[in-house]
Amino acid sequence: MSTWANLGLQDSASPLMEQLIFFHDHALLILVMITVLVGYLMFMLFFNNYINRFLLHGQLIEMIWTILPAIILLFIAFPSLRLLYLLDEINEPSVTLKSIGHQWYWSYEYSDFNNVEFDSYMIPTNEISTDGFRLLDVDNRIVLPMNSQIRILVTAADVIHSWTIPALGVKVDGTPGRLNQTNFFINRPGLFYGQCSEICGANHSFMPIVIESVPVNYFIKWISNNVNSS
Ligand code: CUA
Repeated sequence: MSTWANLGLQDSASPLMEQLIFFHDHALLILVMITVLVGYLMFMLFFNNYINRFLLHGQLIEMIWTILPAIILLFIAFPSLRLLYLLDEINEPSVTLKSIGHQWYWSYEYSDFNNVEFDSYMIPTNEISTDGFRLLDVDNRIVLPMNSQIRILVTAADVIHSWTIPALGVKVDGTPGRLNQTNFFINRPGLFYGQCSEICGANHSFMPIVIESVPVNYFIKWISNNVNSS
């Protein structure tokens, strides 16, 4: 999760987020190079002493500074498209989780396992434990197996919400009347925090998401306990 003074991206916990970080760094490098070049040229304009009295046109330089930016943009466009299609790829998921946005909490359904379902509310500040994270922890966490392809279906019951987990590179809108799909692969155990990122009303800031990533055998134990109790 993100803590104090972390202005960059969170450490990735999935291969797709890793690719997103690589692309971010690649695009940022190109941006810095353009900014430095343009900044240098603008700075040097202050020292122009207007000696070329008869300079009226320059066909060659205009050709260069028209075509060169187009070529530079291709170096961003192609990796961007590659990433876009990579994010859309569904690769034989072993677990499907359905999450439904409500004003203002999430509810989850494990439709592969006798439709285990539960609501997930933020823990209010006056009830949080001393080792808990304020405005980020929930009463019922999503438990998911690590090292497995997971499909996530997102929808909403009232207004548009957005199911977002930065460390996994997942951000999907939950829209009433629609069922959106994405997938991810968690490559380490741990807690992964996220928040709704669609302005959905007064308590938009208070419907966080917590994923508990555990080894597969722990997940099977957890889900079988829940199937039996429901
Ligand atoms: Cu739900 Cu913002």
